[in-house]
Amino acid sequence: MRIGIFCSGGDAPGMNAALKKFVDIAFKIGHEPYFIFEGLEGMIEGKIKKATYKDVSGILHRGGTIIKSGRSRRFYKYKYRKRAYENLKKEGIEYLIVLGGDGSFRAMNVFNSEFDMPFIGIPATIDNDIAKSDYAIGVDTALNVIRDCIDNIRDTASSFKRAFVVETMGRECGYLAAVSAIANGAEICLIPEKKFNKKAAADKLHREFENGREYLIAIVAEGCKATQEIAKWIEEEFNIEVRTTILGHVQRGGKPTVRERLIAGEFVFEALNNLDKKNQVIVRQKEDYFFYPIEEIAGKPYEIDKKILDLLEFLD
Ligand code: F6P
Repeated sequence: MRIGIFCSGGDAPGMNAALKKFVDIAFKIGHEPYFIFEGLEGMIEGKIKKATYKDVSGILHRGGTIIKSGRSRRFYKYKYRKRAYENLKKEGIEYLIVLGGDGSFRAMNVFNSEFDMPFIGIPATIDNDIAKSDYAIGVDTALNVIRDCIDNIRDTASSFKRAFVVETMGRECGYLAAVSAIANGAEICLIPEKKFNKKAAADKLHREFENGREYLIAIVAEGCKATQEIAKWIEEEFNIEVRTTILGHVQRGGKPTVRERLIAGEFVFEALNNLDKKNQVIVRQKEDYFFYPIEEIAGKPYEIDKKILDLLEFLD
């Protein structure tokens, strides 16, 4: 079968590892792998090419995606979706695999209701916000990048007796912020999924400052839209100098971790060996893989594991 793969939305480390496995496994089990460049925009423009072993040699360890990603406004319009379908047909593509996030899955849900082009979705977004999936490609690497940044921030925060407010990515999802706060020992963490108890945090930190605390680190998920507000509050409440760091796109880059490369390979293996599961998204749950119809995943909320939320309770 002629199978096209594309990346859509924010790129994520591990996408290249997934592309390599896609080509290797597809050839091995007798399929023809194709690349669609630049996501849905590339589909509209017909940027489709047969993939070769050479294309994917020496890419496993690189962040980003060699076939590029993209966000497409034009794909919202039927006439462009039709053009994309015609391009796929012209190249003889019979099946699609999409590496992307919720926005990409929603686009595929619409596309699939209009055109006969089966697909499987693989969660790939540092946000980790795909319903029912414990994991999306890119998350472990992003968490490790954030860890390194916060370690560096801690060096300077402790040297100057300052507070640092660090904003992490994640759209409406607080996963990156929550896990980073726990793993990197932040004193304050704000995520959209949990109400921040200012009074409890203030009481606890006042006690700590009285007992010798000299600096603090607060992590705020971008979805809270509260980074500046919290910085001001900390300055006034604790009478400490505050600096703000918005980590931004630094979180999207970097060499994929070992865990990332392994899981990327597993997702692709599952997809290529389950092509009968048409129009479904693969999710990872407790180290195993399951398929859900696209309507049960696209646009549905992701829930942060209760164990993570319970650990966060100890911050305030
Ligand atoms: O979805 C991934 C993500 O990095 C989000 O965390 C962030 O809000 C957004 O993409 C940034 O998008 P862009 O790369 O278009 O600025």
